[in-house]
Amino acid sequence: MSQGEAPVRLGILLSGRGSNFVAIAESIRAGRLKGVEIAVVISNVADAAGLAKAKEFGLPTEVFVSKGRSRTEHDADVAACLKAHGVDLVCLAGYMRLLSKEFVAAFPQRILNIHPSLLPAFPGLDAQAQALDYGVKVAGCTVHFVDEDLDHGVIVVQRAVPVLETDNAHTLAERILAEEHIAYSEAIGMVASGEYEIRGRRYVKGKRQAGKIEKIETSR
Ligand code: GAR
Repeated sequence: MSQGEAPVRLGILLSGRGSNFVAIAESIRAGRLKGVEIAVVISNVADAAGLAKAKEFGLPTEVFVSKGRSRTEHDADVAACLKAHGVDLVCLAGYMRLLSKEFVAAFPQRILNIHPSLLPAFPGLDAQAQALDYGVKVAGCTVHFVDEDLDHGVIVVQRAVPVLETDNAHTLAERILAEEHIAYSEAIGMVASGEYEIRGRRYVKGKRQAGKIEKIETSR
């Protein structure tokens, strides 16, 4: 983003405590993450702590409970809500749901996820415990674009932490989480700048190309 341009609008999707969302919101508020604003915070869990935090911050919030509905139906409502709020970049922040292929197609290379492992190692649930049980000496987190496969898309940022002999899954998860809070804002800034290209599976920094972070058409 260059000066004078409209900020890139973020749509945050979360299911739980929302510490990654809070870290992003605080980075924006402190001026460390520039050129973006949070347009809406959406949850599939009505009493998610992250949603309460979003309300405290005075941000628009929406809940779409998924129980009893097909994934396609539910995701169509979430996608419509994101578009109605003029969202340019969707950020999954502890959103513990698989996305339908229609949802992914509605935001091509416009969905980021954070995962608590150095992908492609340990995709899926309980990544920190998987890493500990496997016996790796270095763990970490990954911010990546979302594609149709689980924890699979192009990697934007990774941060590593050592695994200590004294670690249990909880202490390792805490140390990784501190790095997640740095990595997510960094990745959002990199993507929002538009100064990159994707070569195969590789995110490569480069000059911004015209129309790179073009606004997704919205109904606003
Ligand atoms: C984070 O550790 C995030 O990496 C993980 O859930 C936690 C959410 O914490 N996400 C996944 O495992 C997704 N596969 P938060 O609600 O405090 O941000």
